[in-house]
Amino acid sequence: MPKACSCGLGCPTAPAREFLPGGTHLRLGLEEIDRQHEEIRRLLNRLHAACVQADPAAWRPVFKQLVSTVKEHFRDEERLMRRHGDPALAAHKARHESLLDRAADLSEAVRRGAVIDEPVLLYLKGWLRDHVLGPDARMAAFLRRAVRKELNAWR
Ligand SMILES: [Fe+2]
Repeated sequence: MPKACSCGLGCPTAPAREFLPGGTHLRLGLEEIDRQHEEIRRLLNRLHAACVQADPAAWRPVFKQLVSTVKEHFRDEERLMRRHGDPALAAHKARHESLLDRAADLSEAVRRGAVIDEPVLLYLKGWLRDHVLGPDARMAAFLRRAVRKELNAWR
């Protein structure tokens, strides 16, 4: 009989089920971006698992690492979009900034002793999944087309 998850998020009882499951639908066909998204997904799952423990020493370093990995990843995405002249850069960047603003507020709250609770975990999970499947998928399609055009111009 599988053990019930005690995180309070109503997770399915199978312990193998991840908070944010991976899968091909999250892959965008850009190797480095996909690798970074997978790293972020794993960190979020680690944060969820660590938050089950009441000890902040268990989840604080994971939260910090998640925030810094997301920051680097956003920089890389924006650099790629700029290099290939993606017209959606400004709007995409604004979405990144909205998450980074929230992350800065959360970091400050954590520094003052707040805990990462259910609404925060669900917000992060929803934001990341929706962002990858929405604006990032559009960006990936644009970048793949741009690279194809560039390669065709060599012929
Ligand atoms: Fe993005």
